[in-house]
Amino acid sequence: MAKKVLVISSSLRNNSNSETLAKQAAKGAQDAGHDVEFISLKDKTLNFCKGCLACQKTMKCVIKDDASEICEKVGNSDVLIFANPIYYYELCGQLKTLLDRCNPLYPSDYKFREVYLITASAEDGDEVYQTAKGGMQGWVDCFEKAKLVKVLSGGGLSDPADAESNQAYLQAAYELGKNV
Ligand SMILES: Cc1cc2nc3c(=O)[nH]c(=O)nc-3n(C[C@H](O)[C@H](O)[C@H](O)COP(=O)(O)O)c2cc1C
Repeated sequence: MAKKVLVISSSLRNNSNSETLAKQAAKGAQDAGHDVEFISLKDKTLNFCKGCLACQKTMKCVIKDDASEICEKVGNSDVLIFANPIYYYELCGQLKTLLDRCNPLYPSDYKFREVYLITASAEDGDEVYQTAKGGMQGWVDCFEKAKLVKVLSGGGLSDPADAESNQAYLQAAYELGKNV
């Protein structure tokens, strides 16, 4: 059955490696017949969560910026694929900010059940993305009906466009999307 798949790319740089992999995942999901939407945070305005918790009663954020529309799309998707450049062994600030700003979803009847994370980092190795994976896992654990299905880590991707010639990662990202 076709699923509603939302791909969110969080790197702000041109020729982003994580975005290249996210686009491959989107293509895989599209080819599998799913209904796919791709969002880049590059052209979005996202302010920090103020922690007022008004959203827990109203289901809406008091801050008027692009996070509200993205949050609504997150809540209405079956599958979420987040792409993240590793910054200091963590989720990048802009993705963390978006996750915080999705707090209106916490008490809601959110639809998403499966979450995927794609990372890009200069260094290779399992330890490079563990904290970012933990951060995403922590967010997903707060949504009891959802699970973090898979993390695809693109290690050894340093300069812009490095991912474009890495056939193994391109294929792995495509397969990730194809199998959501
Ligand atoms: C602020 C900052 C912190 C970074 N920290 C790490 C790091 O801890 N480990 C690592 O392997 N690469 C690190 N990098 C390199 C990026 O993860 C790497 O360039 C990656 O390809 C960026 O993904 P993007 O092209 O999607 O933006 C860092 C880059 C920046 C700008």
